[in-house]
Amino acid sequence: MNKRPIGIFDSGVGGLTVFKEIRKKFPFEDIIYFGDTARVPYGPKSENTVIEYSIQNARFLMQQGAKIIVIACNTSSAVALKKLQKTLNIPIVGVIQPGAIAANYASQNGKIGVIGTEGTIKSEAYKKAIKMLNKQTEIFSEACPLFVPLAEEGWINSTITKSVADFYLNPLLQNEIDTLVLGCTHYPILKNIIQQTVGKSVKLVDSAISVALELQNILPNPEVNVSGKNSFFVSDNEDKFRKIAQNILNKSLEQLTKVKLGESWYLS
Ligand code: DGL
Repeated sequence: MNKRPIGIFDSGVGGLTVFKEIRKKFPFEDIIYFGDTARVPYGPKSENTVIEYSIQNARFLMQQGAKIIVIACNTSSAVALKKLQKTLNIPIVGVIQPGAIAANYASQNGKIGVIGTEGTIKSEAYKKAIKMLNKQTEIFSEACPLFVPLAEEGWINSTITKSVADFYLNPLLQNEIDTLVLGCTHYPILKNIIQQTVGKSVKLVDSAISVALELQNILPNPEVNVSGKNSFFVSDNEDKFRKIAQNILNKSLEQLTKVKLGESWYLS
């Protein structure tokens, strides 16, 4: 077994939904997680900025010894996956393709809703990936930018979150979608309210679960006796990250380190 860790990054706490699924499937692997909390959100930023941040994040994880990198962020996956795959010499996995495959599999009536950040929806990455799998599928997309701060604040049961969900999701329901892709890794944090809003007949596709399944096709998963270690890094606000992370993961974080922007990994 290659003892180098799996590297995962996101703009903040959203990628922890991916971390959680990967941890379940790979109990013996070491995992390092980087949340770019100093620069969250990525959704409204320009493509070039998100590409630049993604390269810096991936280089940081490589400096920590990552043998594979999972981009646990749809916005980065949508615009930076190809660039990272070309630039870096380790496998890089994004969340869009696994989510598109899961959505195509889940839909019976060929009407799929996709929600994500402004960047992800503007890139049409899901639309293209789903159409590649089935040209007939109709895709209805909606950017839901307010979901990210609500998830970052941990407002998972608030009536305010429910009103925001009604505002974003009711128009999508007019199109009789039977499947909804949670095309942002922050959104599974709000899964209960989203499911309540769209109703039980709409299947939710969680890109966190899909990417963990995809990783099983790429990485061998040998059984050893020692549980894998977790290391968490953020670029700011470690106390806030710790608090929300504990709610998402239902456990306390063993090791959390703040990485100062401006250090060599950031500049290189
Ligand atoms: N969790 C991220 C995504 O999947 C990014 C959210 C953001 O920073 O705007 O797109």
